[in-house]
Amino acid sequence: MIHNLSTGKSILNKYLYEMRSVDKQRDSMRFRINMERMGEIMAYEISKHLNYQPATVETPLGEANVELPSDNIVLASILRAGLPLHQGFLRIFDDVENGFISAYRSHNKDGSFDIKLEYITCPNIDGKVLILLDPMLATGASIHKTLEHMEDYGIPSQLHVVSVIASSQGVKHVQRFFPTAEIWTGAIDEELTAKSYIVPGLGDAGDLCFGIKLQE
Ligand code: URA
Repeated sequence: MIHNLSTGKSILNKYLYEMRSVDKQRDSMRFRINMERMGEIMAYEISKHLNYQPATVETPLGEANVELPSDNIVLASILRAGLPLHQGFLRIFDDVENGFISAYRSHNKDGSFDIKLEYITCPNIDGKVLILLDPMLATGASIHKTLEHMEDYGIPSQLHVVSVIASSQGVKHVQRFFPTAEIWTGAIDEELTAKSYIVPGLGDAGDLCFGIKLQE
């Protein structure tokens, strides 16, 4: 199931516009804040798909009936660009468990790349709702490798894969290899460059958040 949030009209479209804009994205603080705001909106949308159970709350004047989320959630992000998106999610889901994965592209001479996964810190995810954040879903290779590694941590009851921008190739990849995943994205772009950057995309999300790194 794909949820492309820019197919509807909402303020999310403005945040995404600013993140894509070659002028506005130069302001790295605004870029990170927009990424956080996308995270807040996406978390809220995902919250509508969780399980709830009835509860009562005592107010100064009596008791009210409420429906409270009952799932255990694990929020996992691929470093480094996932950090501001993660922060946005945490403002909505404030008491979840968290995982972090360092996955990066190691480029070969022929222009292809392998995904190197060097570090993962993650709680048990068995029977929990796993929300995996990777701001740019380009080929799907990072998500794929990450999810393979996370099999050691248990089998989640629900899997949500979240990106700010996805390519249609990346979406198809996730759908093919992880058919139960719910895919949440701010937009779906059609093309990838020869180096697997999304077109029109927004550029390098990690660099835009945190500055240019020394080597690829
Ligand atoms: N990662 C990015 O930061 N941008 C892309 O377009 C693809 C992967």
